Amino acid sequence: KETQNIRMSLLDWYDENQRDLPWRKTRSSETEKETRAYEVWVSEIMLQQTRVQTVMEYYKRWMHKWPTIYDLTQASLEEVNEMWAGLGYYRRARFLLEGAKMVVAEKEGFPNKASSLMKVKGIGEYTAGAIASIAFNEAVPVVDGNVIRVLARLKAISANPKDRLTVKNFWKLAAQLVDPSRPGDFNQSLMELGATLCSVTKPSCSSCPISSQCRAYSLFQENRTLPVTEY
Ligand code: ADE
Repeated sequence: KETQNIRMSLLDWYDENQRDLPWRKTRSSETEKETRAYEVWVSEIMLQQTRVQTVMEYYKRWMHKWPTIYDLTQASLEEVNEMWAGLGYYRRARFLLEGAKMVVAEKEGFPNKASSLMKVKGIGEYTAGAIASIAFNEAVPVVDGNVIRVLARLKAISANPKDRLTVKNFWKLAAQLVDPSRPGDFNQSLMELGATLCSVTKPSCSSCPISSQCRAYSLFQENRTLPVTEY
């Protein structure tokens, strides 16, 4: 089935080609799911509005200072803001601190479902999906601008990605596609493809693991034009 082929091709490609990023390495002595969730949370919040290259150093400094969510809850807002200096959108830092305090106060432990994560300060659908799928293996989708572009090309959907209903439909599509056996890796493979090969202006279709399933690519081969996606 087509969905199965897409999943397999993406996961195989991701296993071979994923970038070496600090938040993808599980730190040696801390392999619990809660620590993983905290790592994903911090990295995904930093990656919203900030480039990967910049986030790397900030992420390492942050984890050095507050290796666990419990360490973070002991920090003051001033310390957190100081650590965030240069990243911009300081509200993100305050929400991380407030959210961490909410999670630690939670008697049931770290929320491990996207639906419960979304009740935490500063965690929206995107961050909830990332934490739930990457740290807790819940088969929920993660959709950002890169994922929308990849899916729009894959299915040759020409639509305005700034439109609410359009975005909702991409979440639906991503939910049908996500691999239930490896949801975190699958979601990251889509983001990774959009961040690398499936670029806005010059996609590297010849290296793409799913070009044979890509409707934009086959259209491109027929009339030498990609359907316009406004990304
Ligand atoms: N961009 C934001 N989060 C990402 C992730 N987990 N993998 C790849 N690209 C990303």
